[in-house]
Amino acid sequence: MARLPDAFIDELLARSDIVEVVGSRVPLKRKGKEYEARCPFHDERSPSFYVSPTKQFYHCFGCGAHGTAISFLMNYDRLEFLDAVDELAKRAGMEVPRDPNPRSAQQADDSRDLYAAVEAANRFFIKQLEGNDKANAYLDGRGVDASVRAQFQIGYAPDGYSALKDALGKDERRMKLLERAGLFSRNERGHVYDKFRDRVMFPIFDRRGRVIAFGGRVMAKDDGPKYLNSPETTLFHKGRELYGLWQVRQANQKIERLVVVEGYMDVVSLFQYGVPQAVATLGTATTPDHAELLFRNAPDVYFCFDGDNAGRKAAWKALESVIPRMKDGRQAFFLFLPDGEDPDTIVRKEGADAFNARLAQATPLSQFLFDELGREINLATLDGRARLAERAKPLLAQIPDGAFGDLMRAELGRLTGVGGTAAAGNSGFVPPPPRTPARPSTQATQKRSLVRGAVAVLLQQPSLAQALEGHHFAGLRLPGVELLLEMLEIIDARPDISTGALIAHFEGRQEQQWLNTLAMQSLPGDSDSWRQELHDAVAQLEKQLLLQRLDELQAKARAQGLDDTDKYELRELLKVRATLR
Ligand code: UTP
Ligand code: MN
Repeated sequence: MARLPDAFIDELLARSDIVEVVGSRVPLKRKGKEYEARCPFHDERSPSFYVSPTKQFYHCFGCGAHGTAISFLMNYDRLEFLDAVDELAKRAGMEVPRDPNPRSAQQADDSRDLYAAVEAANRFFIKQLEGNDKANAYLDGRGVDASVRAQFQIGYAPDGYSALKDALGKDERRMKLLERAGLFSRNERGHVYDKFRDRVMFPIFDRRGRVIAFGGRVMAKDDGPKYLNSPETTLFHKGRELYGLWQVRQANQKIERLVVVEGYMDVVSLFQYGVPQAVATLGTATTPDHAELLFRNAPDVYFCFDGDNAGRKAAWKALESVIPRMKDGRQAFFLFLPDGEDPDTIVRKEGADAFNARLAQATPLSQFLFDELGREINLATLDGRARLAERAKPLLAQIPDGAFGDLMRAELGRLTGVGGTAAAGNSGFVPPPPRTPARPSTQATQKRSLVRGAVAVLLQQPSLAQALEGHHFAGLRLPGVELLLEMLEIIDARPDISTGALIAHFEGRQEQQWLNTLAMQSLPGDSDSWRQELHDAVAQLEKQLLLQRLDELQAKARAQGLDDTDKYELRELLKVRATLR
């Protein structure tokens, strides 16, 4: 992981609001000083996920998920660390400092330049479409209007073998980048030429609106494969991207549903005719990554396929990918179109209302599952019912705990007379772990709770440390002392740090879990009593250190005798002890 200066991360977190970041993705409900929600990271029926505006962190009592705005974006939007930082920095209007480590700085430069090279190619293709009568006539012929051409940034890759190369490849490094982005091919003799030639170009955008790949369509029937797609590159993994998702996110404040179709043209036409919720898998089956991405963006997902055999097969693949992701609140439907039609042709013929009506009639996942499994099975016989149960069980077992899984198992029970109760055992409600960890019952409890008390106060309100005028217990051998000292040092450098940002300093360390748990407890008292508690705890720890040193000196006296400095120190320590109670 690339390192960014701690001070930058602190500042970034200070300028971001976790409630806003989480709240724009998960519906939050105010509860006292905090916000609660059903945890987006595990399946649950009642909320145990909390976001604290004062502490600037989130915590789930159910699954233990926790962290700052950065880790939330990493986990929820599936962003890499640097991308999550970028995202927050953009919102906060901050510049991400360049990495001092030359190798990873080089990598960051490289990937930035790679995006830039692909974007330059995209602009080139768009420009080329303007001047090309043939490509325009093709799009006119297919009824693609100007607004969606612009929205989807449709372009044209000229004929010949070196249009793109001549336009953009002059610079040796850019040439290499474009090749890495899959825009060039290479023949046996090592000669490099344009991969996309005389094709209408559909740029593919990532979740953040950057162009990462292309699909290019031939205009005449016999000009090779109908669609040519960018190969897998460092920017583009087709099993993880959905064509049109960026546009859907731009077009909808809140995405109520997504319609998954097969082709580029299906997405574009649905948009044009007023169904701006369509996305396409890129010539592959629906993968589990797709399923996750779909449900992350919308609660209801409609899979739209041809009515033929291949369509049913593709639908079944999609079902297998979504089933492990069917948490409560999510729904999947399957829509099969009449022979010879695809969403593009249907919506042009019938319009959006009729298409929406078809969606309203779509087959729910539960029905599709039992229908498919029950094909060619005679449920009137005991054998048949047993076979259905046998086929269904491994699939149903993958449904996350919740009402949907219970209902599916009940349905199987109804259909077969078996399986309903057998499966109920593993769908029982598991209560979340207790909120307070058990107190350690060692003899160190008393002293340990001193440290623990101080840490707990700092986690409630880090700024309280400012009231301490210094502290002198470094070197005290007690569990947690090092941690406490480290926290005080961080707060000293950044007096206004939030709890979340403070904990983030311990990222990846064992202590982090403990800090989180402690931070989530609501401490009795108020700022004044906490300040006092912190003050007292530090005074006690200073006294402990004094006693520890006295013990050491006395042990040394017994073992080898004391030199003059030791004797002086001992006298001074005894004087101080006399003033302490
Ligand atoms: P279709 O052949 O159904 O494409 O392939 P379509 O979108 O209806 O295309 P039009 O209407 O004829 O223009 C569906 C999807 O499968 C992928 C593409 O992603 C396409 O959109 N595909 C298809 C390829 O990758 N290569 C091909 O040669 C054909
Ligand atoms: Mn089509």
